[in-house]
Amino acid sequence: MQTTKIRAAITAVGGYVPETVLSNKDLEKLVDTNDEWIISRTGIRERRILREPGKATSDMAVKAVENLLEKRGISADEIDLLIVCTVTPDLIFPATANLVTHKLGTSKPWGFDLAAACSSFLYGLQVGAQFIQSGTHKKVVVCGVDKMSAIVDYTDRNTCIIFGDGGGCVLLEPTEEDNGIMDAILCSDGAGAEFLHQKAGGSLKPPTHETIDAREHFVYQEGKTVFKFATTNMADVSKKIMDRNELGSDDVSWLIPHQANKRIIDYTAEIMGLPEDKILMNIERYGNTTSGTLPLLLWDYEKELNKGDNLILATFGGGFTWGSMYIRWAYNS
Ligand code: UT7
Repeated sequence: MQTTKIRAAITAVGGYVPETVLSNKDLEKLVDTNDEWIISRTGIRERRILREPGKATSDMAVKAVENLLEKRGISADEIDLLIVCTVTPDLIFPATANLVTHKLGTSKPWGFDLAAACSSFLYGLQVGAQFIQSGTHKKVVVCGVDKMSAIVDYTDRNTCIIFGDGGGCVLLEPTEEDNGIMDAILCSDGAGAEFLHQKAGGSLKPPTHETIDAREHFVYQEGKTVFKFATTNMADVSKKIMDRNELGSDDVSWLIPHQANKRIIDYTAEIMGLPEDKILMNIERYGNTTSGTLPLLLWDYEKELNKGDNLILATFGGGFTWGSMYIRWAYNS
């Protein structure tokens, strides 16, 4: 007897970005930089910042999930599991997932946070998919959201020009059709930790007056080194997933790459043999929202995606962590 394979398919997308815009011109007033340098070296023109006091990552996740639930026509009580992928949780504990479900007015889903820097959302998708494929869960929401402005040093021109706030989420449901999450390659190498990390605030170096004076509660990045690893690894893993699934460049409908630097994205597309019009990009408007970049792309471009389209998601981030995922899109919006 033949059993039908159950796959996890994305069946709805939600997103949210805060209203406040921080432009390159605004940053010129904070650090020694300029609009021309930022655009030519990164592709970023502006980013969004969550300015309202008392608002955090959970508040953006709630807005994104509400947007998703409304579009799918379901209530929060119907979610079985909620995964919040983030490096900027509201608190060290409890998990942001607990705060999000509470703010959604439900205690039905269980949930947890997942941190893998800029690769968090891709890792989260793969984790969420396992619960669907096993048949134990019918509706899994995976959020990728970050409030990077909470950990960015606005006196450091190496980092403050890159990051922004925002994120999105997807709903995973079972499908017996030949679409959904088809394959994933996820990688990590802790040897890269020294090049991109936050020095203090964890159990290694709890907060003290000294850590605050030394500005150690912010993102630290050796940009050039990270750039080198990001370019090579994101391109390699994206080509690898194409080859493993016998996809030529004509078979790939869209590249959905992490939005860290336009130059990294262009190189990845070149190695994959993809023309510019197959690359989804919104780095110009949002910058690098860490866990938020991939769901924000799906949210922005949802209307362009057609059932049966072959998507390659690709990412690289702190850890180092990186990976790619092959998704056959499951619906027309
Ligand atoms: O998302 C997680 C993973 N992160 C990434 O993938 C980010 C990877 N790295 C990058 O995207 C790039 O390395 C940056 C955008 C961070 C920096 O760009 P770069 O082309 O690698 O610049 P650089 O650090 O090599 O600096 C080149 C020059 C230096 O001046 P000199 O020494 O050549 O005179 C810097 O001091 O540009 C200078 N510079 C700036 N100038 C104006 C560095 N930052 C700035 C700035 N404005 N904001």
